[in-house]
Amino acid sequence: PTLFVLNGPNLNALGKREPGIYGGHTLADIEALCRAEGEKLGFAIDFRQTNHEGVLVDWIHEAGDTAAGIAINAGAYTHTSIALHDAIRAIRIPVVELHLSNVHAREEFRHKSMIAPAVKGVICGFGEHSYILALQALKSLTK
Ligand code: DQA
Repeated sequence: PTLFVLNGPNLNALGKREPGIYGGHTLADIEALCRAEGEKLGFAIDFRQTNHEGVLVDWIHEAGDTAAGIAINAGAYTHTSIALHDAIRAIRIPVVELHLSNVHAREEFRHKSMIAPAVKGVICGFGEHSYILALQALKSLTK
């Protein structure tokens, strides 16, 4: 079985982007961590990043037809996207929302997630370890 790990806008810049907030890891580093954790948990990892909202919608639909679950860091679309909310509602596999930073300790506009009401649960604030925790949560949800 496969878990999708979907990354939204600006996450391709991890490592150089506000390292005080997001840490020094690149997205490639995080992909390697996810692959290692997937192996431990017995899942293949399909790891993707896009800066485009509609591409995330397409990938959520694709995962709904082919994958066991989704871990998603939707970046800033978390706070704006009804389309992502609806896409998650339209599929049956478990979805876990995750963030590197503790969005609740930051600007007010990051406190609201448009996708949180549509997902199984939310993990935020643990840096790159948020990805590992999200994969472990998906493992427990797919038993
Ligand atoms: C983020 C938090 C979002 O508010 C922000 O827009 C991001 C990254 C995080 O992982 O902490 O792009 O999702």
